[in-house]
Amino acid sequence: MALQQLPSPEILKAYPVIFNGKRARWRQLRKNGKSARREDRPNSWFEMIDPDGNGVWPIHPKEGWEGRWSIGPDTWKSIKHTPEVKWEKRKSGWTPYRIEVASDTPTMPSSTIFDDVGQNRQAKAQLNQILGTNHGFDTPKPFDLIEKIISLVSDRDCLVLDSFCGSGSTAHAVLDLNNKDGGRRRFITIEMSDDIATNVALKRLKNVVCGYRSQFKSTDIVYQKKVTLRDLQNPDALMSEMEEIRDEKRSEYDEVKVSIEDGLLTVSGVFGTDDDIQGLGGGFRFCTLGESLFDEFGDIAPAVSFPDLAAHVFFAETGAPIPARADSGSSLIGLHDKKAIYLLFEPAVQNVSRKAAGNVLTPDALSHLPKPSQGFPDQRIVFAEGCTVSPERLKAEAVIFKQIPYQIEGM
Ligand SMILES: C[S@@+](CC[C@H](N)C(=O)[O-])C[C@H]1O[C@@H](n2cnc3c(N)ncnc32)[C@H](O)[C@@H]1O
Repeated sequence: MALQQLPSPEILKAYPVIFNGKRARWRQLRKNGKSARREDRPNSWFEMIDPDGNGVWPIHPKEGWEGRWSIGPDTWKSIKHTPEVKWEKRKSGWTPYRIEVASDTPTMPSSTIFDDVGQNRQAKAQLNQILGTNHGFDTPKPFDLIEKIISLVSDRDCLVLDSFCGSGSTAHAVLDLNNKDGGRRRFITIEMSDDIATNVALKRLKNVVCGYRSQFKSTDIVYQKKVTLRDLQNPDALMSEMEEIRDEKRSEYDEVKVSIEDGLLTVSGVFGTDDDIQGLGGGFRFCTLGESLFDEFGDIAPAVSFPDLAAHVFFAETGAPIPARADSGSSLIGLHDKKAIYLLFEPAVQNVSRKAAGNVLTPDALSHLPKPSQGFPDQRIVFAEGCTVSPERLKAEAVIFKQIPYQIEGM
């Protein structure tokens, strides 16, 4: 997976030349570095002619080994007489350079150590601010850390999956990123605990989408010292010491305050506010899982209803959601791509044979399959527990029988 580069306007400082109205810099055409050897790319070992008419080869000027140019002979041919190229006379002789124009939106790779994001302590304070201190969830992760990871690995309309939702930090990060850059990222996040899902994640996400009154503000004293006569004689040194601490702590807190009271200088870090916090916008759907359709042996679980099994069968067969919730009064559960999908299934009834329960495709059942109102489809796919219709008749009537549960796609 390729990591995204991060916007980095300060890189432009390294491009001091203006070339065709853009920032640029001159780069040597001889590749530097010990791994840029002639044998690595033989095509880039060729002769260039310097302004005195002599041949120049990409040989290391001090160590004398055979290196290579950063381009091949065809590119050289196309640029050698253009302003893109210049020659400079150095101690070692004429050296060719090519101009490199900076991107209009410069970026650079992210550092592999993230020191500009919150830590778990801040994550807890963030959650307290959104939900108050009684939410009971102890292990939230900082959503700005998750934001950074999402920005690095995906684009602005990706789908983010977090199967361990917890307090919903990942979903919060997605909503916040979309709010910042107008992206259209979506998320799916899954939580197995009803309590955490409804009382922590759901409440958090409602608050951050719609806005809320901040419920938590806490202050840590991060530095304290008694102001001495010596400090008063040298207030500049005292101030710069304070500024240093303030800068160091700024990324950890929402606000860093400095005060002097009763001869005591105090630097404190403040988490949260007691203001109204504007909503991030966006939205989400909160879904709960129904009963499992299949038991541990792969059989249809006894409690499964016709509409639930129909929804699953239709999706597994077509890859599309069922057009409308199925009605157990009709075995025709939906149409897709010129195919009609049928399900013969009555939730298992003890002591009733499968045939009597209507779970078998019999010649009679086939004759009575409901016809789609939009005209006859090219094919009918009938899911049932068994089939007593001859293969010839099935073929003649363009019917494919699929046995449940074994022939449901994905089983
Ligand atoms: C460490 S917490 C995740 C914290 C989350 N990243 C946050 O910032 O709030 C792990 C969460 O995953 C949930 N969990 C664990 N196993 C799970 C599973 N198999 N399916 C769904 N949720 C699961 C736990 O109930 C817990 O809430």
